[in-house]
Amino acid sequence: EMQNIQVAIDGPASAGKSTVAKLVATAFGYIYCDTGAMYRAVTLQAMHDKIELTNESAILAMLKQIEIVFKPGDPVQHVFVNDSEVTEAIRQPEITNAVSTVASLPSIRTELVARQRDIASQSNIVMDGRDIGTAVLPNAQVKIFLIASVDERAERRYKENIAKGINTSLSKLKDEIETRDRKDSTRKTSPLTKAADAIEVDTTSMNIEQVVKEITKIINKKIK
Ligand code: CDP
Ligand code: CDP
Repeated sequence: EMQNIQVAIDGPASAGKSTVAKLVATAFGYIYCDTGAMYRAVTLQAMHDKIELTNESAILAMLKQIEIVFKPGDPVQHVFVNDSEVTEAIRQPEITNAVSTVASLPSIRTELVARQRDIASQSNIVMDGRDIGTAVLPNAQVKIFLIASVDERAERRYKENIAKGINTSLSKLKDEIETRDRKDSTRKTSPLTKAADAIEVDTTSMNIEQVVKEITKIINKKIK
């Protein structure tokens, strides 16, 4: 039996993974799964319940409260905690800056990776995160490692914040991105690294349309 098509997109913070993954998934008619949202949801709930972010057993017990919902024809993945939608709430800067701590807990990763594989077993999929090509879907037909200079990535997040009415300093954003990349790249369990068979795409001087085009080309070459 043929395996579903799996497109794995990994890379550092704010490289454009989710933006591009969503567009590519829509164009190919695949589902899009944002694995970072799962780590964000559990971080949100732990902070809400005032649980220490290193309390692995307490956080593990919370995972059953988290639900990921895909709606046919809707590229947006909806995230629920105890039946309330947190799709937007998990993007808050406080969550962004805390999530790497939770994401370094091995048993949390084991559990979420199992869920991610289960989702990928059901449909052709574009999945983005940090360890998709290396750990979650090691047999993915297409593996992309999306990068951009840290200055460019900070600039992108800065513009995104301005558009949302959030005014943060560019240098603070750059520091936060560097800190998170360092935590994600140096943790013991499935750190952020480029899979040996991943294709690196440096998007520093590319706009979204150009990146989508490039990835579309790579997918078409691999699946034909
Ligand atoms: O979109 P952004 O790059 O800001 O982050 P995200 O993809 O939502 O991921 C948030 C955090 O979750 C990352 O910084 C990692 O700490 C963690 N993560 C992970 O460890 N493994 C994944 N597959 C996805 C996210
Ligand atoms: O998911 P990840 O953290 O890798 O990045 P993202 O949230 O998709 O993208 C971060 C920001 O960069 C968004 O505001 C995108 O619109 C923007 N972006 C861009 O300006 N140029 C690109 N080539 C890719 C993304």
